[in-house]
Amino acid sequence: MIPYTDRLAGLLGRRKTPPYLTENLSEDLIVLDRLVKIYDTGTIKVLGLKKISLTIRRGEFVAIMGKSGSGKSTLMNILGCLDQPTLGHYYLDGVDTASLSPDELSEIRNHKIGFVFQSFNLISRTSALKNVELPMTYARKSKRERRERAMELLKRVGLEARADHMPNELSGGQRQRVAIARALANDPPLILADEPTGNLDTAASEEIMELFSRLHQDGATVVVVTHEENIAAFTERIIRFQDGEVVSDRKNRPALPESRRGKEEISC
Ligand SMILES: Nc1ncnc2c1ncn2[C@@H]1O[C@H](COP(=O)(O)OP(=O)(O)O)[C@@H](O)[C@H]1O
Ligand SMILES: [Mg+2]
Repeated sequence: MIPYTDRLAGLLGRRKTPPYLTENLSEDLIVLDRLVKIYDTGTIKVLGLKKISLTIRRGEFVAIMGKSGSGKSTLMNILGCLDQPTLGHYYLDGVDTASLSPDELSEIRNHKIGFVFQSFNLISRTSALKNVELPMTYARKSKRERRERAMELLKRVGLEARADHMPNELSGGQRQRVAIARALANDPPLILADEPTGNLDTAASEEIMELFSRLHQDGATVVVVTHEENIAAFTERIIRFQDGEVVSDRKNRPALPESRRGKEEISC
């Protein structure tokens, strides 16, 4: 799940933080400049993204929407440094990712990006605690530090009582919360989630989106892919894709989830 190069980068270590890992704290966290992705399948070439230019500021909470095949995952894989564009540039925190080697990209993934997947991607037969500790192992944190931080993160997602449980002993919503805790392990400035509620029922989906809202309120930049309007409704900006192009990009006033609606009305 975590690529070999991630582990290698962790083992190699470095004396001081290289420039591409320092936080530049520029207002624009993501800048996409005429991004093109072409998939060459041998027989035909598929245009995954067509000259996308957009900016996401630090601290934004964004939904990427669009029908199946519109390019959402292609974009997320590039944003997550899991794939590179065919043409154009992706600047993450002021650094042009096209200039980085595979090992440097692995370090960026480990330190600057927390990725949450539709299918959770937890390591089976490994406790929730150990799953959360994993990115910190690659980042060469001490055993004690890893354990303390992992417990703190499980507490943050409301699962401290489940630390010793294996993924198959947890519900879908709980598994996704472990995956979110794992994504937060190295305190990355950017959280990316590709259809994080795609395998969950409505109640669990709402819980996950409330959790993302809290992370956003605490200062994280959160980008969530979804094709469900009620999920996008939690975010503050909705970007719609169609055939590899942005067809709309609008501000959104987040709706209160059903579960909190009554209480808010009483307190007003
Ligand atoms: N690995 C690949 N090889 C070839 N074509 C691909 C590959 N991944 C995605 N595509 C194509 O790129 C387009 C966008 O796909 P994708 O980003 O997965 O869409 P979405 O996530 O919105 O469903 C589609 O036409 C899809 O078939
Ligand atoms: Mg997809």
